[in-house]
Amino acid sequence: IRCQSTSTKEPKAKRNLLDNASNLLTNFLSGGSLGTMPVAEGAVSDLFGRPLFFSLYDWFLEHGSVYKLAFGPKAFVVVSDPIVVKHILRENAFSFDKGVLADILEPIMGKGLIPADLDTWKQRRRVIAPGFHALYLEAMVKVFTDCSGRTTEKFEKLLDGERSRGGDAIELDLEAEFSSLALDIIGLGIFNYDFGSITKESPVIQAVYGTLFEAEHRSTFYIPYWKIPLARWVVPRQRKFHYDLKIINDCLDGLIRNAKDSRQEVDVEKLQQRDYLNIKDASVLRFLVDMRGADVDDRQLRDDLMTMLIAGHETTAAVLTWAVFLLAQNPSKIRKAQAEVDSVLGQERPTFESIKKLEYIRLIVVESLRLYPQPPLLIRRALEEVVLPGGYKGDKDGYTIPAGTDIFISVYNLHRSPYFWDQPHDFVPERFQVQKESEGIEGWAGFDPSRSPGALYPNEIISDFAFLPFGGGPRKCVGDQFALMESTVALAMLFQKFDVELRGSPESVELVTGATIHTKNGLWCKLKRRSNGH
Ligand code: HEM
Repeated sequence: IRCQSTSTKEPKAKRNLLDNASNLLTNFLSGGSLGTMPVAEGAVSDLFGRPLFFSLYDWFLEHGSVYKLAFGPKAFVVVSDPIVVKHILRENAFSFDKGVLADILEPIMGKGLIPADLDTWKQRRRVIAPGFHALYLEAMVKVFTDCSGRTTEKFEKLLDGERSRGGDAIELDLEAEFSSLALDIIGLGIFNYDFGSITKESPVIQAVYGTLFEAEHRSTFYIPYWKIPLARWVVPRQRKFHYDLKIINDCLDGLIRNAKDSRQEVDVEKLQQRDYLNIKDASVLRFLVDMRGADVDDRQLRDDLMTMLIAGHETTAAVLTWAVFLLAQNPSKIRKAQAEVDSVLGQERPTFESIKKLEYIRLIVVESLRLYPQPPLLIRRALEEVVLPGGYKGDKDGYTIPAGTDIFISVYNLHRSPYFWDQPHDFVPERFQVQKESEGIEGWAGFDPSRSPGALYPNEIISDFAFLPFGGGPRKCVGDQFALMESTVALAMLFQKFDVELRGSPESVELVTGATIHTKNGLWCKLKRRSNGH
């Protein structure tokens, strides 16, 4: 099968199918060479009955921090140990690619950073990462506050309407509101396009949601039927997907043309001096076009923008959603957050400087990411044979995994591991103020803030890979600080003005997963103006 699948005479679609079949077979046959690794047998119902990451957690407690999960002929190695994860993500990052994930995302993101082949990734990462410079982030705070301001103004108008009818509270699906907020912010921050989705609907917005929906469907559907020739013409949802993709691509092409046409030497000078605060459009696209000249390939730029749009939108919306979900069950923590907001901001909007003082809000954001990591699983495929180190729990000797092995790194398991966190399922933002010692765990350095001096938010370096909300190693998220500051600003501005309660019980908020963890039917909340008159 391998020989046939790599033949250049085969049509591409057929080759892909053969590649998949070959991978399945390789995984199946390689099962034995994973030696003594514990095996969890998954029933197909585990794929559909409840989010997979819940079952992966139960099996982690039962089988240890490195185990093999077999679904019929399909096998994955599930890793929930910081020492092993550091080995995969940082120390041997280039012995792995994104495997199944790249297959799913390539039709949407092309050669964008997430699914890109290694050569393209190396070249584009070098170009894009400097676009998220600290001074760019400083300029972005105004985008975060402007968009969050639009959201709070919208809520105030709705409350005014309610007051005229004698009521004092409104009911809203905050997940949907955060989705609009995050879309507007990512549009302005990355390519200076105002979706305006907080206040209106548009075909481009619908197309973005349609594309996200399809990406999610593909990431949870077992058989990649969309690769079958003609599927894009015959299957209605595939036709719609290609229609949506065309709308977004046309929009992005227009923005790229515009950025290239309006390239000005004065802007280039300002960018070179990193004078972001005085540039009208400080977006990443502006940076990529102005600093890198007109020679950038438009198709590659479009893939880069699409990748950042998808990677930065739903993830941030999910963080805000779960932060509010957790806070709403802890009114005393809301009051503590509001006391901090009042003392740091009063009635003012946050600034780059005040974010540094909003320590409790920052810890709320990271604690929400600990309990609800987005995505809950990272996916890798070994490109060559790799010898994994022994982990903390049980698997002291480590395993040798053959080329082609598919891996799930369960960030969810790591973040709720009883071996590294006290009360792992409880929402305790304060836990990050008290760092845990390494307790002599071999190979794991424990929590130590001095390893990442000046970091505003706890990260994978401080925790030696026990906490990795943005991944780690060379393929770590490029937008981590952007997302963290954006979430801090949005939460501070929400609780500056409003009190929030869940409309129903916490149990009624059901979980579903695709690329991120989200609710089944929205996060329905009651919103009131702050009782102290703010
Ligand atoms: C990669 C999480 C926001 C752009 C990643 C990865 C994680 C992650 C875990 C690593 C994936 C892996 O190793 O397989 C998040 C979370 C976010 C967020 C939780 C929000 C709270 C953003 C934003 C942007 C962005 C705002 C862009 C503006 C990217 C890109 C990559 C990435 C381009 C791929 C990096 C590479 O492979 O070189 N993100 N992200 N993300 N993220 Fe984010």
